[in-house]
Amino acid sequence: MKKIEAIIRPLKLDEVKIALGEIGVTGMSVSDVRGVGSSPDPYATGRKTAGDLVIRTRVEVVARDEDADEIVALIETIARTGEPGDGKIFVMPMVDAIRVRTEERGEDVL
Ligand SMILES: Nc1ncnc2c1ncn2[C@@H]1O[C@H](COP(=O)(O)OP(=O)(O)OP(=O)(O)O)[C@@H](O)[C@H]1O
Ligand SMILES: [Mg+2]
Repeated sequence: MKKIEAIIRPLKLDEVKIALGEIGVTGMSVSDVRGVGSSPDPYATGRKTAGDLVIRTRVEVVARDEDADEIVALIETIARTGEPGDGKIFVMPMVDAIRVRTEERGEDVL
């Protein structure tokens, strides 16, 4: 399994969420974050907060290994405007997953 953690512009969330659903992603976590990237964001549309942090949205999806590339490509395509501040996508190995209700483990719980 892989965890895909995408930091995107808030205005891209709805489109990403719908597109992920269309390719069969059933579970995800979404949170509001503030962050800063490696380059200044002269065109940042996010509301500036203290310390030049901008508002971004984090989308986390845990997926089967074979589905990870498709998910990354989809998020990348939708999230890109070409302007600084489009975000980052991080991919990391996921060791296990547990469905709390049933005690099932592994990728079948996804
Ligand atoms: N190295 C990092 N670690 C954790 N989060 C990061 C990192 N880089 C960027 N982020 C998150 O992604 C958001 C968007 O980053 P951003 O797109 O500005 O990256 P960048 O490297 O500056 O690229 P760009 O030149 O396109 O602006 C940041 O506000 C932050 O929340
Ligand atoms: Mg930047």
